[in-house]
Amino acid sequence: MSSTPPKATVSHLKASTETVTSVHYWTEKLLSFRTTRPAGYQFTPGQFARLGVVAGDETLWRAYSVTSSVTEDELEYFLVQVPGGLFTEQLKDLKPGYPILVEKFSYGFMTADRFVDGEDLWMLATGTGLGPFISILQDPAVWKKFRNLILVHCVRNVDELAYQELLSKLHLRPELAAGGARLQLLRSTTRDMQSPAAGNLQGRITTLLTSGDMEAAAGLVITTEASRVMMCGNPEMITATRDILYQRGLRPCRRAVPGQFVTEDYW
Ligand SMILES: Cc1cc2nc3c(=O)[nH]c(=O)nc-3n(C[C@H](O)[C@H](O)[C@H](O)COP(=O)(O)OP(=O)(O)OC[C@H]3O[C@@H](n4cnc5c(N)ncnc54)[C@H](O)[C@@H]3O)c2cc1C
Ligand SMILES: NC(=O)c1ccc[n+]([C@@H]2O[C@H](COP(=O)([O-])OP(=O)(O)OC[C@H]3O[C@@H](n4cnc5c(N)ncnc54)[C@H](OP(=O)(O)O)[C@@H]3O)[C@@H](O)[C@H]2O)c1
Repeated sequence: MSSTPPKATVSHLKASTETVTSVHYWTEKLLSFRTTRPAGYQFTPGQFARLGVVAGDETLWRAYSVTSSVTEDELEYFLVQVPGGLFTEQLKDLKPGYPILVEKFSYGFMTADRFVDGEDLWMLATGTGLGPFISILQDPAVWKKFRNLILVHCVRNVDELAYQELLSKLHLRPELAAGGARLQLLRSTTRDMQSPAAGNLQGRITTLLTSGDMEAAAGLVITTEASRVMMCGNPEMITATRDILYQRGLRPCRRAVPGQFVTEDYW
């Protein structure tokens, strides 16, 4: 995408051309942006949209988790500009007013309704894998379904701990508080030291799970009976975390078989 908005719109049976309404940079490479919402667009918190940009003669498509709540008029996404990445290079000069294609269907199985029971919902995210949990945590049904909500966000550097203000105020929203769940926010960095404030941890999700530090910080133990786990982001983190959970007796949710964890790999 060049610095002037492309004039042409693409007619695509499965997609509509939407407009970027705002762009927020958390760091030089990490941003959130909002678009108009296609008429009739439905999604379940935790699902992703396929976005398209026109680059020369072709249209490039990539998947992005929706971070906004289902009740908002706009859709929001949270992404990192990957150095040399074909799609994200096109978004370098993204500004309000730019057109973007949004597929009319939403996708994905990392949704809270996959769990038929459980008391504690653990949401484990690396980097931009936080995105779907921003939407999930704005869903009153999730606050009603679980007794404890534990969000673990692991990033390289402190400045990548996005959405802290929104997250820290969720419990004040009457429609969420009415559900009765307790939300705990655990933040971990792997390349920066953080202050030893409540919820601040050091190290990868896998390391924190193996050492027991994650459960100690939450004051909860991960068990097959009580715990349901969602994992999103770096696929190597997900593979390694699955193995740890598997050894502890937890199993993936399958189409017709209830389980204890669901995942979303970003690459
Ligand atoms: C189901 C699904 C949902 C996704 N949701 C998001 C989202 O909400 N936000 C988002 O930023 N990306 C998300 N992605 C990744 C996204 O679709 C693109 O792959 C990414 O934006 C990079 O596109 P690209 O063409 O610039 O580079 P690509 O050529 O697609 O990727 C190049 C490399 O960049 C790295 N990479 C890609 N995505 C990420 C990432 N998110 N964080 C760290 N490293 C990455 C990988 O090493 C990858 O091989 C999602 C992917 C899937 C499959
Ligand atoms: N974030 C940046 O400052 C930065 C700078 C330049 C380029 N990039 C590029 O931007 C993209 C996104 O980077 P990102 O930092 O958002 O995503 P990322 O590389 O997936 O890292 C996010 C977090 O996941 C951790 N992690 C990585 N592999 C793991 C594993 N196997 N098991 C458990 N945890 C793991 C990382 O810890 P570790 O720190 O221990 O790896 C980090 O805390 C990448 O393509 C990267 O090369 C990022």
